[in-house]
This record gives sequence, structure tokens and C-alpha cells, in this order.
Amino acid sequence: MAPRLPGKVALVTGASSGMGRAIALAVAADGAAGVVCCDLRPEANPAGFEADLNIPTAELIIQRGGKALFRKVDISNPKELEEAFLAGVSEFGRIDLVVNSAGYWAPFRLFVDEDEELWNKMVSINTLGTATSNRLAIRQFLKQEYDPAWGSRGRIINISSCAGVVAFPGEVAYSATKASINHLTRAGAIDHAKDAININCIAPGAVATGMARANFENQDIIKHMKKATPWPRLGVADDIAGVALFLASKESSWMTGQVLNVDGGMTLGVAP
Ligand SMILES: NC(=O)c1ccc[n+]([C@@H]2O[C@H](COP(=O)([O-])OP(=O)(O)OC[C@H]3O[C@@H](n4cnc5c(N)ncnc54)[C@H](O)[C@@H]3O)[C@@H](O)[C@H]2O)c1
Repeated sequence: MAPRLPGKVALVTGASSGMGRAIALAVAADGAAGVVCCDLRPEANPAGFEADLNIPTAELIIQRGGKALFRKVDISNPKELEEAFLAGVSEFGRIDLVVNSAGYWAPFRLFVDEDEELWNKMVSINTLGTATSNRLAIRQFLKQEYDPAWGSRGRIINISSCAGVVAFPGEVAYSATKASINHLTRAGAIDHAKDAININCIAPGAVATGMARANFENQDIIKHMKKATPWPRLGVADDIAGVALFLASKESSWMTGQVLNVDGGMTLGVAP
């Protein structure tokens, strides 16, 4: 199959680990002209499941013949995000695809036990950080021309969670901020459909990444996650990367404002 993203430049937040890393690698492998890898640090989350954990994402892309750069970005800091967009444009000349995978999760606790500090952190990273990145992406896309061969002027893929679609116990603040990402996807998409800018979202189920390692190793939690997932296995980062590639490619150019649950059926209802 011909590469799906020739000449396209991607910026990925949370690119050092898990889904962000899998998406950055997949986009580069599908012909992207450059990938701006944004994260708190270049090193992958040491709890991750990646086989090549010791090689930072941007290095791995370059080793495989692609073009990439790393930018240290805390997405809750608008200035750092803005500088990453500027660095991407300065290095690669444009940005066509923005994937917002960086996110914050905290171990399960009851709503009554959550506090202001937790809520502030969840909102500033998950809601505000993702919203800022969406706005910066749209502003950059509006400076660029519509590409008829791609069917779009620019694309945003947000990563929320199926916890933002249905309720799970012990993660109210996380769920509420992930639901905000689902809805900013829809509301942002309606504003910018006229500009041929696609804004879509993936809501993952239980996926084996560094963030989820402690849950995957906890027998009670894993039992619960397996029971809640009708499909015979839990997720891996490449399950999400495959759908992200679809949302980045020509085939999905008439889709916008959609939240795709990629979750082995977790949001369907109660599994038998
Ligand atoms: N793993 C799951 O089961 C699961 C399920 C649903 C949704 N998610 C969401 O998927 C996304 C990716 O998580 P993952 O599972 O790949 O975890 P991960 O820990 O493997 O990767 C997350 C990456 O985001 C980075 N990051 C965290 N806060 C950041 C910040 N403020 N600024 C910049 N980078 C930051 C981390 O350094 C890390 O490299 C997150 O938004 C998470 O909430 C994960």
C-alpha cells in the first residue's frame, strides 16, 4: 500500500510512551515528512510495555529513516506548547496532524476522597492542555491551504478514555476531564468543519501502557477490567495507533466531531 501521509508533518503530545509513542512511530512509518515528539521528557515511561523502551521515540523514528525532533513540553503550560508548534514549523515548514495523547491519571479513589489538588491537576492537563493544543493546531492549519488529495486542511486526533463515555468507579475527576475532551472534540469540530479541519477523538478502553502497568499487575483490577471487556483480550498501544492512522488518512476525510470507542467493546454494556 502506498504511504498514507506523504509530505505531512505531525505533532504528537505524550509521544515518549504508550499510545502517543505508538502513534508517532506509526505516522512516521506511513510516510510523514516529520514528527514533532512532545513530552515531559524524551525517555519512555519505565513502566511501559514497549520492547525498545530504552530508545526515545524521536531517535527510533530517525533510526528507521524518518525525520523527528523531541520538544520538552508540559501541555498544561501554554507557552511550552506554543514553542513546540513554532519549533515544528521552523524545522519542517508546516504542521498537518496534531495528536493529543498526553494525559494524567491517578489511582482509583472514591469521589468523596478526591480533593482540589487532584481536580486542578486533572483539569489543567487533560482539559486545558488538550484545549490549548487544539487551538494552536487550528491556528496553524488556518495558515495552510486545503489539500484536495488528502481531503483536509489539517487534522486533530484527541485521546480521551472510555471512562469519559460511561462511568467507572473510583475515577470521577479523570472521567469528567476525559468527557470534556469528548465534547470539545464535537464542539470544536462544528466550529471548524467550514475550514475543512477534522477534529476527531479516540476513547480507549484498557490498554497495556506504563500508565496502566499497576492496574495490569493488580489481580483484583485486572479481573474487573477483563470482565468489563467483552473482547477476548485487553488492548495494546498499536490497537489505538491503527485507528489513529485511519483518522489521519484520506479515507476518513468526511468524518469530524466523532468519538470512536476503541475498547474491545467495554462501552457496549454488561458483558455476559
Ligand atoms: N492505558 C490505558 O488503559 C488508557 C485508557 C484510556 C485512556 N488512556 C489515555 O491515553 C493517553 C495516553 O496514555 P498511555 O496509556 O499511553 O500512558 P503512558 O504513560 O504510556 O504515556 C503517557 C505519556 O504522556 C506524558 N505526559 C503526561 N503528562 C504530560 C504533560 N502534562 N505534558 C506532556 N506530556 C505528558 C507522559 O510523560 C507519558 O510519556 C492518556 O491521555 C490516557 O489518559 C489510557
